[in-house]
Amino acid sequence: MNKINYSIVPCTENYFEQVIKGIEIMQLDNRELKMNDFWVALVENSILAGFGRIRKYTNAAEVCSVGVFEKYRNNGIGKSIIQQLIYNFTIIQKNTLPIYVVTIIPKYFEKLGFEIIKEASYPKEIYDKWLYCVSELPVPEEYVIMRFNHLSPNL
Ligand SMILES: CC(C)(COP(=O)(O)OP(=O)(O)OC[C@H]1O[C@@H](n2cnc3c(N)ncnc32)[C@H](O)[C@@H]1OP(=O)(O)O)[C@@H](O)C(=O)NCCC(=O)NCCS
Repeated sequence: MNKINYSIVPCTENYFEQVIKGIEIMQLDNRELKMNDFWVALVENSILAGFGRIRKYTNAAEVCSVGVFEKYRNNGIGKSIIQQLIYNFTIIQKNTLPIYVVTIIPKYFEKLGFEIIKEASYPKEIYDKWLYCVSELPVPEEYVIMRFNHLSPNL
């Protein structure tokens, strides 16, 4: 059950600047930001609570720059944004590229159907993303590469 009411909608001009600010505040991947890649969560139909995108490469796609403003966390908003991104990408756009995420919170993404990839077989773009995270967004935690599995028992 949602603790607060929110809707997940494609990002529009009205929200894109706030999304970019949120990305800077939360120190997320700020490269190649394109409004049309983003979906946003709105509370009371107008307040930006969170955002996220799927970035498309030649051989893979990536859930990227997902953030929920602190005040709105733990209401299921991050989960809904990620589920909407994946639904839109795979079902609506019928895109079959494998979807990855590079993250420091693997437990969070496991619940959403992602699995840790240990073999060195991921696409170069995803390895490059990992390198970017390690060098440009350093944190004490370890960055791991995960891939979305449509058949995950966690779904
Ligand atoms: C990670 C983030 C997007 C989660 O958003 P959220 O809306 O608070 O998360 P949800 O409410 O959808 O959480 C769903 C579940 O994940 C759990 N969870 C939330 N944050 C978590 C975290 N950092 N690590 C592990 N689990 C977490 C919740 O407890 C909840 O569990 P439940 O379903 O068993 O109750 C948000 O904390 C955030 O913006 N963090 C900073 C930016 C960031 O780390 N982005 C991810 C980049 S890869």
